[in-house]
Amino acid sequence: MMPFRKPLLRAFKSLLACSMYLVPSQKSVLVQGPGSVKKLPGLIREQGIRKPLIITDSILMKLKLLNGLFAEFDAIGMSHAVYYGVQPNPTVDNIEEAYALYVKNGCDAVVGFGGGSPMDCAKVVAARAAKPGLTADRMGGYFKILLSFHKKVPRIFAVPTTAGTGAETTSAAVVTDPRKHFKYTVNDFLIHPHFIVLDPELTIGLPPFVTAITALDALAHSIEGYLGGAHCRFSDAYSEEAVKIIFENIDRVYRNGRDIDARSRMLLASYYAGIVLNRALTGYVHPFAHKIGGMYDLPHGRVIGAVMPLVFEYYGATVHRRLARLADVIAVSKPGMDNSQKAAAFIEAIRGLNRRYGIGETIPEIKEADFPGIARSVHLECVPYPIPRIMNDDDIIMILKRLKG
Ligand SMILES: [Fe+2]
Repeated sequence: MMPFRKPLLRAFKSLLACSMYLVPSQKSVLVQGPGSVKKLPGLIREQGIRKPLIITDSILMKLKLLNGLFAEFDAIGMSHAVYYGVQPNPTVDNIEEAYALYVKNGCDAVVGFGGGSPMDCAKVVAARAAKPGLTADRMGGYFKILLSFHKKVPRIFAVPTTAGTGAETTSAAVVTDPRKHFKYTVNDFLIHPHFIVLDPELTIGLPPFVTAITALDALAHSIEGYLGGAHCRFSDAYSEEAVKIIFENIDRVYRNGRDIDARSRMLLASYYAGIVLNRALTGYVHPFAHKIGGMYDLPHGRVIGAVMPLVFEYYGATVHRRLARLADVIAVSKPGMDNSQKAAAFIEAIRGLNRRYGIGETIPEIKEADFPGIARSVHLECVPYPIPRIMNDDDIIMILKRLKG
């Protein structure tokens, strides 16, 4: 790297870190507890809303996970429309179809019900309603809705059905444009959900492996922001609490999916980790996971789990003090250990999760011929992130070789 780029990069990161303080603090209304999703129709009506559009996917419809919610709408005599065509990383067509349904039915609010994709789709449909001239394929980037001075965004309600993405509390949405083979992010404070429902009963049907990999995703959200240059006292408190809750409860939910108390705790941890992600951004783990997961069609959390230890080891001494603190938080540090030993103990604890839940430490699906393309993508995605130690091509290739196994 050219020597003059380092001070410039540091200045940029400081600027970014300061800008994070401008992010509005969490103003969402949080509704939580077993069965809390049944309170949603009444809550929506209290806001003076006439007809919400519920956005979800076909799997959740088939599983009848929304039946309790629909019954409650019927019970209070409130009409609603449903769009259940959301695909993973919602496509621009998903958004346009949902928005067309929103207009056709005269809706005035959106409910994102599901994993990250339905919630992201709901956020962008709300943005679409606020700015009807701006189609989904032109919404990528920062603050396009805010800067349009058209701030009347419909109320957004988010109901997560996995404990991992944190999408219920972020101001961003990932969208895919299959025609351009392009995945982009819509970023705007105005698409931050206004109401969040954390109902652990919606997560009890998740299989153990999905439970584990979504938890590892939440774990990465809480740690990546903690290690980066944009962390602050506010985000640190959420990071430490999320890490503690995940390590205390992941085994319980993995072994007994019906443990409603542990499911509640994991949903809360995922929500806290989402706050960290929104405030302190991410590091290298996610760019690796986005590219590798997309290229080989692998679950996000599986790649995240395998990549985390390698990236945290690469950061080396720059993050030892921070990781040592997390080792204390989950009580894997021992008297007499210095920070580097505590950091190693924390990374080993993550490896332990990977081993216990069948995630493994390697991703043999990665092809060596793809290394340069993955490296390019990682460099590109990392540009705005406040990462603790910058990688060059050789560093990325070294990590990919270890990852391939
Ligand atoms: Fe993630």
